Amino acid sequence: MPKILAFSGSIRRDSWNRKLIRVAVDATRAAGGDVTLIDLADYPLPLYNGDLEERDGLPDNAQRLKALFKEHDALLIASPEYNSSMPPLLKNTLDWVSREWQGESGLVPYQNKVAAILAATPGTFGGMRMLPHLRQVLNTLGVLVLPGQFSLAHADTAFDPENGALKSPARLHALVVDLVRTTTALARAADQP
Ligand SMILES: Cc1cc2nc3c(=O)[nH]c(=O)nc-3n(C[C@H](O)[C@H](O)[C@H](O)COP(=O)(O)O)c2cc1C
Repeated sequence: MPKILAFSGSIRRDSWNRKLIRVAVDATRAAGGDVTLIDLADYPLPLYNGDLEERDGLPDNAQRLKALFKEHDALLIASPEYNSSMPPLLKNTLDWVSREWQGESGLVPYQNKVAAILAATPGTFGGMRMLPHLRQVLNTLGVLVLPGQFSLAHADTAFDPENGALKSPARLHALVVDLVRTTTALARAADQP
């Protein structure tokens, strides 16, 4: 069972991306993934500053996140779009996790990882303009980002108010099935002599 680390790039209480990641996690578990859902609110980090890093080293929460990334085979990320790009919370988190620490390359938490990227916004773009930015950053870090992606426009009306389910889940389900299958196939290939 592939181990998948899931989180939202928004920690806003009523965040659409928090709702989306919960739905995506359920679908990924149903597809056979072993998912750990974390909330970035539990891992507060200062805004990256090289002086701070030089003085204090890597913050404890960045170390905890690094360990979590390394324990998992894949990432499942849902993020808002801020001014056509990713929000500072998400970029700051990815940046801290990418820092070299105790002689270990900052790429280690990302290497050989697969990712599925999702976005939700109440507007008509659905985060479409943010996703290529997130893809580029993850690719730079060595992550294989699935060619498929999921953007949810009009997120404010996309969920069933009764049970929180997505009204049109088919594209999301196809993406998470691809995530589980691709991660499983790569893990098998890595085990071959
Ligand atoms: C600084 C800022 C910039 C934003 N820029 C965009 C944008 O470029 N495109 C968009 O669709 N929504 C944009 N929004 C609106 C967000 O999509 C909306 O606030 C959304 O609910 C945030 O995601 P969340 O519900 O998961 O917190 C922006 C919001 C903020 C705070």
